[in-house]
Amino acid sequence: MDRRKSTSQDVLKSQARRLRARIALTVGLSSAGCAAAGTQDDGSTITVATVTSDPTATAQATTATSPTATSEATEVATGPDPAATTTSATTTEGSAVRLRRPGWKSGANYCLGRSDANPSGKDCGTIPPFDALRTIPDQPNGMYGFELDPDATSAERKKIADACCFRVIRPRLGRPLRTGDSERTPIRAEIVRRPEWTEDTGRFLAAGAPSEERRAAARAWIDDALLEHASAAEFARLSLSLLALGAPPELVRQAHEAALDELRHATIAFSIASDLEGAPVGPGTLPVERSRVDTDFVSLVEACLLDGCIGEMLASLEAATAAEHCDVPTIREALTSIADDEAKHAGLAYAIVTWALEAAPLEARRTIAGMLQTVRAALVQELELTNAERPERPVSVATWGRLDPTDAARVHHACVKDVVLPLLSALAA
Ligand SMILES: [Fe+2]
Ligand SMILES: [Fe+2]
Repeated sequence: MDRRKSTSQDVLKSQARRLRARIALTVGLSSAGCAAAGTQDDGSTITVATVTSDPTATAQATTATSPTATSEATEVATGPDPAATTTSATTTEGSAVRLRRPGWKSGANYCLGRSDANPSGKDCGTIPPFDALRTIPDQPNGMYGFELDPDATSAERKKIADACCFRVIRPRLGRPLRTGDSERTPIRAEIVRRPEWTEDTGRFLAAGAPSEERRAAARAWIDDALLEHASAAEFARLSLSLLALGAPPELVRQAHEAALDELRHATIAFSIASDLEGAPVGPGTLPVERSRVDTDFVSLVEACLLDGCIGEMLASLEAATAAEHCDVPTIREALTSIADDEAKHAGLAYAIVTWALEAAPLEARRTIAGMLQTVRAALVQELELTNAERPERPVSVATWGRLDPTDAARVHHACVKDVVLPLLSALAA
């Protein structure tokens, strides 16, 4: 079943570069502007902690205020993994924090222990006490940010009394319909037994003996299927927003086409899940009343930025990588086609943001420019914080088309560094 294959960083990098070039070409972004992750090409100030593996090193900071800061910012994204427990950093205000990584959980969390250089840091409470985190302001509507993890903090404080652990809030794969409140939670249908959303039984996989591995893969495919199903609704919502804001017909047409793509993805995912389970599964009703149609440019761009420019790009690279390592030809072919569609949807998101930057009222354009800067800063900081999450592996597998969490984290990192950040930098230029 497993298709064992060498998975050098080079393969992933070349996939990422192809994806970046495709989007840049589609949207007409300058390839020069897409050259380096972390570039601050608008003269803005973004604080980036410089990673060092030397535990005795004094803190340093890169405040990217000029083109000369670019190489240092890039080094943050590409530098060697830091020592497991001792990475120092300084913020623009000169105080230092010590990042500790023993508390990593599910690739998204990290812990901070207060350093001697910052003895006056506030208690965690619900607000990150460290200046390093203050470079990322609290954002409305579930944008990129951090939140305290009380359980991880309690566990970590058994080892370090003043440790604080946080969860990274970041976009997930794809572009599902979300609630219209500040949580922006994906809206999913209930899963039900029904045959209409599955193709012919055995289309993707022959029947097999029930096993825990098979059930786990089925659950993962059902998760994906529900998100794909919700994505069809999201593109219906997007088309209404575009019409409300006077978008050109080409963008509206592409939104409708994307909804049809998502229906196809949902059918594929439900079919694979059904083959794994040996019984048909499909969606129940979708509570769309929990969503809302955006009728202002800022909300439109926020959704496009987080779920389109980032989320769909992640979905594309993850599907392409899973296809690369999948041994089942039918699933591999489906993943390849999904990866292609998701890249197209990401391109649509970039096109919408580009259009909004031209068409929106001045005040909204300013807000959007600030949003771009905030998200870029958060991504740069995430790269620094997650640098230790990328162990090189001799082989990778994607049994039944599912990447394991380690490979998924590696894809996420490469996508942010080599695709999303360069494109967002070009967009902001
Ligand atoms: Fe999709
Ligand atoms: Fe999509």
